[in-house]
Amino acid sequence: MMGAFTTFMIQPAQTCRAAIILALLAGCTPTENTVTPGTAGAPIVGTNVPPPTASNTEVPPPYALTIEPMPVSAPPELVVEANRITQRFIGTLLPTLQLAIASGGPVHAIDVCAVQAPQIAQQLSEDTGWNVRRVSLKARNSSTATPDAWEIMALNMFDERQRGGQEGVNINVAEIVGREFRYMQAQPAAPLCLTCHGTDIEPDVRSALEQRYPDDMATGYFQGQIRGAITLRKDI
Ligand code: HEC
Repeated sequence: MMGAFTTFMIQPAQTCRAAIILALLAGCTPTENTVTPGTAGAPIVGTNVPPPTASNTEVPPPYALTIEPMPVSAPPELVVEANRITQRFIGTLLPTLQLAIASGGPVHAIDVCAVQAPQIAQQLSEDTGWNVRRVSLKARNSSTATPDAWEIMALNMFDERQRGGQEGVNINVAEIVGREFRYMQAQPAAPLCLTCHGTDIEPDVRSALEQRYPDDMATGYFQGQIRGAITLRKDI
């Protein structure tokens, strides 16, 4: 894991926002800010490693995210729940995408992705009571994926952390903002993603994308770069 993250106590949103920026600065520096669980006087610790219960002792599927400590100003149980929901999102969408590419090729998979991805987000929102969607600083579907101010700040922080050498799958953030708990998990571009988001897109794929998304900004990515994020919010 890269460096250490500052951990925070619950505090007003403004202060937390400043704290997130500090965490970003601390994210790639040596460990003087580390707060180890159990340290005397330590604030609520930002760990999202779930306690061992019957439901999470099973072997994680291959697409499971590596869980790392992160800056947090919220109850750890909400962080665990948010992390599970993002894993469900990825664990549903990724096989769907892979199957669509394998069965009909990438142009066909564009249609599948355009229909299935919002449906999966919608279904997860209904199932869990959380608001679940995807955002990006360079949206393909700007009608659904345009980030708000908090998400822009988080996405910029994700880019910084990725540029600092951290793996995208390990980059996430949680914060209480007003009366909401908010969580974002970065989505790095894997080789598969570059078929439709990379620099060297096949002409038929490129023209299918141009037709469906005339304002597409989501190309030109390289492997490992942060393509966007799954973003979750819940009233508390
Ligand atoms: C077959 C082409 C294709 C592949 C492969 C693909 N995507 Fe996409 N991606 C799309 C399309 C199409 C959309 C727009 C979906 C919509 O209309 O909601 C999209 C949207 C997204 C969004 C939502 C934000 C936005 O820009 O609209 C994210 C995040 C994203 N893709 C990440 C990824 C990642 C990560 C991978 C690899 C695991 C990947 N994509 C692979 C076609 C693809």
